[in-house]
Amino acid sequence: MRGISGPAGFGRCRAPVRLYPSGARPLPALVARGLGSRRTGRRPVAAPATTDEGRVTLMTSSASTSTSRLAAYLGGLGVQAPDELSPETVAYAAALDVVAAVAPEVAASIEAELADQRSNLKLIASENYASPAVLLAMGNWLSDKYAEGAPGHRFYAGCENVDAIESRAVELAKALFGSDHAYIQPHSGIDANLVAFWTILTDRVEGPALERLGRKDLLSLSESEWAGLRREYGNQRMLGMALDAGGHLTHGFRPNVSGKLFDLSHYSVDPETHLIDYDLVRERAREVRPLVLLAGYSSYPRKINFRIFREIADEVGATFMVDMAHFAGLVAGRVFSGDFDPVRHAHITTTTTHKTLRGPRGGMVLCEERLAPTVDRGCPLVLGGPLPHVMAAKAVALTEASRPEFATYAGQIVENAATLADALQSEGGTVVTGGTDNHLLLVDVRPYGLTGRQAESALREAGVTANRNVIPYDPNGAWYTSGIRVGTPATTTLGMGPAEMREIASIMQGVLSATEADPSSKARFQLADSVRDGARKRVADLLVAHPLYPRISL
Ligand SMILES: Cc1ncc(COP(=O)(O)O)c(C=O)c1O
Repeated sequence: MRGISGPAGFGRCRAPVRLYPSGARPLPALVARGLGSRRTGRRPVAAPATTDEGRVTLMTSSASTSTSRLAAYLGGLGVQAPDELSPETVAYAAALDVVAAVAPEVAASIEAELADQRSNLKLIASENYASPAVLLAMGNWLSDKYAEGAPGHRFYAGCENVDAIESRAVELAKALFGSDHAYIQPHSGIDANLVAFWTILTDRVEGPALERLGRKDLLSLSESEWAGLRREYGNQRMLGMALDAGGHLTHGFRPNVSGKLFDLSHYSVDPETHLIDYDLVRERAREVRPLVLLAGYSSYPRKINFRIFREIADEVGATFMVDMAHFAGLVAGRVFSGDFDPVRHAHITTTTTHKTLRGPRGGMVLCEERLAPTVDRGCPLVLGGPLPHVMAAKAVALTEASRPEFATYAGQIVENAATLADALQSEGGTVVTGGTDNHLLLVDVRPYGLTGRQAESALREAGVTANRNVIPYDPNGAWYTSGIRVGTPATTTLGMGPAEMREIASIMQGVLSATEADPSSKARFQLADSVRDGARKRVADLLVAHPLYPRISL
């Protein structure tokens, strides 16, 4: 269903472009020039030391101060904006001052979070660093607006600006992913999945029931007809990937609403190779004959052939849904194309917008035209009013992801993950499936004598933030686990490449092999201070060379 051509400026160019050109300079703190409010008494902090390498201009392109609103404001005060003025620093320094005037402890925590993210290496596969433009699009009065409904068709007055924003984001998403339709209101990945589940139930269960009963809508059903339909909704079968094979909580885990709503069956990965065995998926699908066949993952380190999944879905009469929450950025960047492009093959695709796609926290649903009217009724189906400020940030992020540089970025994420996996294995580590095709890898930490919980804590002490994760057929369960999931989206955003990946592998290997598990606990461990401090120093060196938000001097 992918239609490749989009509006001008949203081409599929894969020409090598320089994502991190030199020339961006660290900027002095605004307050040091006497331009900032000092109400909070915050100390001006020097900009992080930087080199000219490793800049993400996508994240830092700033408004021209000669024509900007800021310059006009300063001009009105009789102040000429200096050339080095950083609008990003102005924005955040002023915003924090405003917040601190009401809730200083909250402002302090926001600032502390920046310091934390700047001083630890972010290897969490589901996280990234959104651009200041994305972040700032969220922090404004759009948040105050209710806009239930769809563009041009709202239940509230005064939605013209929200209409413009939502329409823009929808058009960008459709062009970027080559989708017939896009719905950008979901507040999160779980909400996007709920919209998709209920769209499928509406399409496959409710619609036929209404037709059978000769009723035009739900409100015209009798009490007994309604009771019968409600039982029908709750008895449908879904086949999704098992959680310990890499699936997600929202794909039928019993404590999640998906597990309570559907009669769930799972497919796993091969016990030896830990790869999806498509023949086994087909076999399971023939046995189960699900209404919904679901593909997608949060910790499977390989690409998936969605063409085969679609064939299986068609054979058993299932609606094929893909949750690309983790790898949407790789689809947007054309790293996953052809058989590996979910949007081309699925009836309905869901995603988050904040992982590899590098947007604001949120969700999105893409679908074929036939399902669009139902998807667009996500409110009131499972959502309340949309979040216009987040939709604005989604439009900004989709604009960034539509640029040719984003394809380079997506390719670099995958190359970095492959390099990290290779380097870890050369250092003696064990990587599930022996490598990765995407943005994440799973390290089996049992050979170090550790649980995932111990490994996660030891790494964090050493300045490396990664999360513990189950590995296939994990003997330690979902809390302690036997693995560490490692992702490269964030470090790639900082401009790191293969050399840095090898250094990270060496740091991780040094920490994990020096960590000693407490034999009486799955959580406690010991890590020598000297090893911890040595690792922290190496992490600090990497982060000094690749600073986070170099144009923000806070
Ligand atoms: C595959 C997948 N689907 C859905 C979600 C849920 O996203 P959110 O946390 O935005 O609800 C996640 C989050 O990690 C995920 O990995």
